[in-house]
Amino acid sequence: MSVHIGAEKGDIAEIVLLPGDPLRAEFAAKEFLDDAVCYNEVRGMLGYTGTWKGVRVSVQGTGMGIPSISIYVNELLRDYGCRTLLRIGSCGSCQESVALRDVVIAMSASTDSAHNRLRFAGMDYAPCADYHLFARACALAAERGLRFHAGNVLSSDTFYQDDPNAWKHWAGYGVLAVEMEANALYTLAARAGASALAICTVSDSLVNREQLSHRERQSSFREMIALALDTACGTTPDSAAGKSSGP
Ligand code: HPA
Repeated sequence: MSVHIGAEKGDIAEIVLLPGDPLRAEFAAKEFLDDAVCYNEVRGMLGYTGTWKGVRVSVQGTGMGIPSISIYVNELLRDYGCRTLLRIGSCGSCQESVALRDVVIAMSASTDSAHNRLRFAGMDYAPCADYHLFARACALAAERGLRFHAGNVLSSDTFYQDDPNAWKHWAGYGVLAVEMEANALYTLAARAGASALAICTVSDSLVNREQLSHRERQSSFREMIALALDTACGTTPDSAAGKSSGP
């Protein structure tokens, strides 16, 4: 086992979906994967491995924020040989054109965190998604008729801020939405020569303060899981049915 994941080598697939909430990892595994087995309960950060349309895939909770996701991504890459990491999360819109329930596919991720300032000795690094995952996710989202946006997100260190208008500065530079993890995921995957992508559904709007209800969050989360699985596994919507899409 690694420091924070109680799995043996080989228990975790090369492809891993990464929701922040461990209960969402459990939900995704139980609702979508065949033969899902739980490999981690350390700190309640549940992790499961199963198959999606015959492809082996894991779902690992990461917790919220850059320090927490960095712990799990470091260990998945270094200790378990994972190669394709796809965050599935929620985000807050900072553009009028980005509505509740829309999907945001993060082409790149800015940050107000110091983690890369420390790593790059004060210089700027531009973390970006793996092109092939990004292009596939956009193509599948378009094919499914999902309302989606592709562009820059802000991975913020703070959910609650002293200045309630801080997001507006980023919005002025075209940032689509705020979340809290993609920047670290992209950086760590790049260092390991692995592939990463973050897909988020819009759960709230910083522009007009609207929020999804619990039920709406759940249904848009389902669409995103299916999109993420087909993106990461290279499967198509009509290849052999998974649990969510057929008997
Ligand atoms: N900020 C940061 N992360 C988020 C938000 C937000 O407004 N909404 C959903 N995840």
